[in-house]
Amino acid sequence: MGDFDITALILTEHDAFRRAFTEIEAITDPAELGPRWRELADQLEVHAAGEETIFYPELLQDVDDSEGETAHAVKDHNEIRETTSAVDEHEVGTDAWWEAFRTCREATVEHLGEEENDVLPPFAEQVGADKRDELGMRWLQFHEEHEDARGLSGETVDPQEYVEEHS
Ligand SMILES: [Fe+2]
Ligand SMILES: [Fe+2]
Repeated sequence: MGDFDITALILTEHDAFRRAFTEIEAITDPAELGPRWRELADQLEVHAAGEETIFYPELLQDVDDSEGETAHAVKDHNEIRETTSAVDEHEVGTDAWWEAFRTCREATVEHLGEEENDVLPPFAEQVGADKRDELGMRWLQFHEEHEDARGLSGETVDPQEYVEEHS
């Protein structure tokens, strides 16, 4: 895989998310917990929005019968967005906060696994290496432009409208 292959860049972030959730679970100082959670929450939104802007439109164009997987992924992204917002409704470090955190963790980890099993392999098979590198460059650029989720609404996206718009 090339250095900029978008599927490799997505996988690297998935691993970083799993690690971040685990690391946050081990934090006991609320002063540290708040900023570390904010960082992860912002990165989750940049990742989901980046996939919806760069990755899934290409999947819809190049991979046959990918409409269902795409709609499912957008629905999952919405669930991650909603469970992330739900964490922020509680005081950091309280029992209710931790419960919401774990709900977000479960929704996220389940989605990452589904993408890795059902979406990335057919994509890597049917999209050429040069194209994957080109998309990877756009992916990195998107991250620079939207560092800390700057300029992203974090609002949910209608899965069916999304698929219709990009098919
Ligand atoms: Fe995703
Ligand atoms: Fe992803």
